Amino acid sequence: MIFTSLSPNTQKNDLFLAIKSILQPWKWNSSKYQKKFVNNFNQKLQLKNSFTFDSARSGLYIVLKSLNLSKNDEIILQAYTCVALVNPILWVGAQPKYVDCDEDDFNISIKDLQKKINPNSKVLIIQHTFGQPAKLTKILNIAKKNNLIVIEDCAHSLGTKYKNKYTGSFGDAAIFSLGRDKVISSTSGGVLTINNQRLLKKVKELYKELPSPPNFWTFQQLAHPIILAIVKPTYNFLKIGRIIIRSALLIKLISKPIQESEKFGKKPTNQTYKLSGILHKVANLQLQKLDQYNNHRIKLAKIYHTNLSKKVSPPSPSILSESIFLRYTVLVPNPRTIYNHFLDHNIQLGTWFDNVIMPKDTDLKSVKYELNSCPNAQKLAIQSLNLPNGINVSTKEAKTISKKLNSFIDNQFK
Ligand SMILES: Cc1ncc(COP(=O)(O)O)c(C=O)c1O
Repeated sequence: MIFTSLSPNTQKNDLFLAIKSILQPWKWNSSKYQKKFVNNFNQKLQLKNSFTFDSARSGLYIVLKSLNLSKNDEIILQAYTCVALVNPILWVGAQPKYVDCDEDDFNISIKDLQKKINPNSKVLIIQHTFGQPAKLTKILNIAKKNNLIVIEDCAHSLGTKYKNKYTGSFGDAAIFSLGRDKVISSTSGGVLTINNQRLLKKVKELYKELPSPPNFWTFQQLAHPIILAIVKPTYNFLKIGRIIIRSALLIKLISKPIQESEKFGKKPTNQTYKLSGILHKVANLQLQKLDQYNNHRIKLAKIYHTNLSKKVSPPSPSILSESIFLRYTVLVPNPRTIYNHFLDHNIQLGTWFDNVIMPKDTDLKSVKYELNSCPNAQKLAIQSLNLPNGINVSTKEAKTISKKLNSFIDNQFK
């Protein structure tokens, strides 16, 4: 079976490392792995001050906290995003100001950004959606003119370059995600990078105060790739795999990527930790494969681009030279029907972002999104479908998926 999500980066050596690590709990809190990972991360991305967390949202929460924002201060971010990005804004008591996105690159619309900036605007979050860099030169100019603090959201764009420089090095700060479906993964995890010396002192202070996660949480993260290695071969066979996932979640053998309360803008009481020692080791192994993973994603994106018919609305050709394609996203009239049809044929497609603020059941009112304030983002959300392009998907499989999708769409439009 072919998968878009469900531990898409896990290879044999990652699985062996997870098994070995879970059997050595005395190493879970070892501090020696952190330094190695942070050094390698900084070196690879040419960064200086990186801090590791249990998730990217925790990193964002800490940098926003360091800014001492007040209740009328607005933080600008694009719609067509994840609730995990919005929530830290609510948690520090500031206001999210949603800006529409462009259809060509799924990133923030410059036109709408200019309309929505006002005297309360303090921070601009620039998301590089699906690994495609935003139109940085123009956006950074606007930010400078309006005295905005810039935070890059590189949750999807680890390894993406803009004008020969890695994303994450353009703003005052940047967050990266090491979440389960991200560019590289330690099941959960995140990195905050600070490029502005004025923010650094306060962030260092706040970071020092943070606890390490409970051992049980670390266990859940290590168990995730192991459980999924059992789930995947039986995912469709009598739906055994799906039953295993549900049961594992129910008995808390593995953790959910987003807690129920987060869909209502709430901060789960147990959140905001440093990353556990051992998960740095897991992330480090993945980091060594970063270029290999991204080159593979780009290779498959090009195959899709060549083989898909125009009726499928593939991404704009201009992004082929820039994106690392964390997700290869096409626009179709009925993504759910296609998703279900393909799943019956042993191909799991992806459903990012199926809501203007994903996941699908996010309570938009709780996260202060006003309906119809970002029409493009809403339109994209009901049309988006991601095709698998992770390291475990072959070029032959990408060609087969292209053919199947072309003919499915052709039949629908007969
Ligand atoms: C665009 C975007 N930003 C930020 C995040 C938050 O990342 P994390 O899950 O590591 O908190 C996500 C998570 O899916 C995301 O999609």
